[in-house]
Amino acid sequence: PGKPVVILGVFVADTAYRAARQPRMGETLLGTSFTLGPGGKGSNQAVAAGRLGADITFLTRLGIDPFADMARQTWAQAGVKSAVIDTPESYTGAAYIFVEESTGNNAIIVSPGAAMLISPDDIEANAGLIRSAGVFVTQLEQPIEAAMRALEIARGAGVTTILNPAPAAKLPDRIYTLCDYVTPNETEAEELTGIKVSSIDDARRAADSLLEKGVGAVIVTLGDKGALLQTASRSDYVGAINAGAVVETTGAGDAFNGGLAAALAREVEPLQAVRFACAVAGISVTRPGTAPSMPTLQEVEALLARGEAAQPR
Ligand code: RIB
Ligand code: NA
Repeated sequence: PGKPVVILGVFVADTAYRAARQPRMGETLLGTSFTLGPGGKGSNQAVAAGRLGADITFLTRLGIDPFADMARQTWAQAGVKSAVIDTPESYTGAAYIFVEESTGNNAIIVSPGAAMLISPDDIEANAGLIRSAGVFVTQLEQPIEAAMRALEIARGAGVTTILNPAPAAKLPDRIYTLCDYVTPNETEAEELTGIKVSSIDDARRAADSLLEKGVGAVIVTLGDKGALLQTASRSDYVGAINAGAVVETTGAGDAFNGGLAAALAREVEPLQAVRFACAVAGISVTRPGTAPSMPTLQEVEALLARGEAAQPR
């Protein structure tokens, strides 16, 4: 399984509505389907890593309610260990996910509930867990102060740190100096740098601006165009890995980040780890749902082997 991975983040129940379009204010629209399933960026990343065979522990807060039961069941099935702070004064959150019928694209409202109460003190109380990791990952769905404290502790212990800056937010400059990897998508890269990212060259410029702030390596995920890995000394573009028809792209970024963490924990070289992460994301978009669409290690290895066979010589 490689070195231990610890992920700090949010679990929510994903309530996904498929429809031709979003309703206008004041309008009621008939959808074509509804599904309820496990979600939340951090939890999805943990599930991805767990299904890939990583030694993974997920740190969060949950309410005491049916969605918390769903969380625990999801993690148990995916081989994810958890460090949960029970939070009876709040609720386990939910996300409204609109999925556009014709494209599989999405728009989301997430209400993290109990996870919004994750504090620097909570992180302090779990410092030993974070220090014991080989790879630490967090996102921006829980309070930034908690993410910061966790990154500081991880960095102080020589743990490889990954910040997935999602959802997009402005960040204090200091946070960048704590990150071995920052993994924005195009929108997030623009929010962080002010550089509009609509081409690989734009992504290179955005990555440079983040490197200047002290990040070790920047990975800009480019949706169906793949990903860019950039450090001070080199820039490598990795094409997307196509695993079939796209059904739902929600959670593709989480598949990528969970895959990246799992690969880095096994000490795979960064460029290979990005390729691996692209394959994980590539499979996840061919299936409905977020956490439920994460592939196993066998599935990813089979896809990569097919890809290599198809490479022109
Ligand atoms: O990244 C996808 C996730 O973002 C969904 O599972 C939803 O819960 C939102 O948090
Ligand atoms: Na999916």
